Amino acid sequence: MGNRIFHKDSTTNDEEVVRLGSGAFGEIRLVTIPDEGRVASKALKGKTNNPWMESEATVQMAASHECIVKVFGLHKPRGMAEIAMEYMSGGNLHRLLLNKRKTLTFIQRHNMCYDVARGLEHLHNLPDGGCIIHNDIKPDNILLTQDLRCKIADFGCSKWYDEDGEFVDGCPKDLFCIAYAAPEKLHHHLFPFVDADNNVQQYHALIIEAVPASDLGLKDAYLPHESSDIYSFALLIYMLLYRRRPWSGSVGNFLAQVLRGERPETPKIYAKNSELKSAKTLLRLMLKCWKENIYKRPTSAEICLELQGLPSRL
Ligand SMILES: Nc1ncnc2c1ncn2[C@@H]1O[C@H](COP(=O)(O)OP(=O)(O)OP(=O)(O)O)[C@@H](O)[C@H]1O
Ligand SMILES: [Mg+2]
Repeated sequence: MGNRIFHKDSTTNDEEVVRLGSGAFGEIRLVTIPDEGRVASKALKGKTNNPWMESEATVQMAASHECIVKVFGLHKPRGMAEIAMEYMSGGNLHRLLLNKRKTLTFIQRHNMCYDVARGLEHLHNLPDGGCIIHNDIKPDNILLTQDLRCKIADFGCSKWYDEDGEFVDGCPKDLFCIAYAAPEKLHHHLFPFVDADNNVQQYHALIIEAVPASDLGLKDAYLPHESSDIYSFALLIYMLLYRRRPWSGSVGNFLAQVLRGERPETPKIYAKNSELKSAKTLLRLMLKCWKENIYKRPTSAEICLELQGLPSRL
């Protein structure tokens, strides 16, 4: 296990470069690589080579599945390592859901949810008995094909464990996006905001680095667990159902709400008769997945069972 990723020499023609997006850490461009053709290339912001890049690519390669964005390897088009991966021409799910001009049936949303659930099921139950905790499930990290198939991306916060629970590779720190973070993560950490990047203006994109519980004199360290991905998945279902961010207002405000055990408002959902079954399934799952007690949340395998047997794609 843990084959190291191979490095490719490459050159890209800067005139061809198209910017696809950026997050708290990365900048993604569409580039052409000899032999591979068009790929999305993720570079870390900043000018230094970052060893985390290799870990991110290694974990994402280990996660190989049709519902996970495929990584081809690392290349160095501008002197520093970048991740070369499959280009997802439909962009990210966050942007799609907030674009109200784009109509989406609940059946389409049910299908998108099922794709993410299948990806998670694979990560949490790798064929060799290991497990990957994604640690940053949110709609910005779900990418789409033109026909609205979803794949999980951005393994920058992920941790990979072998079948004995030993850490194999991944992000060496506890990083996560606060708006989608499970309450148990927030309860066990006090945190400074490490990312004061001026480009990050919206709270949903704030990534924090947690201070290890031991440094705070706390006994109960938070141990990464699959069920924290499941909580984040519940908030992703919220976005699918309501097409708005789960939390509004200041960061302090919604953090206090999560820590008090509150959840986002769930107004009544209006769906056509033909879509009612999908809307109800999504709502039921969301309520189970964001339970406070991590052991009462369903596993990703149970979620897949509940979502399968979909109505035909509309
Ligand atoms: N393979 C891809 N194909 C098309 N667009 C992509 C691809 N990878 C990333 N993007 C775009 O770039 C955005 C940021 O990518 P990514 O989430 O990997 O960066 P990040 O800096 O790690 O993000 P975060 O702020 O979540 O840590 C995505 O939301 C998406 O819009
Ligand atoms: Mg991201």
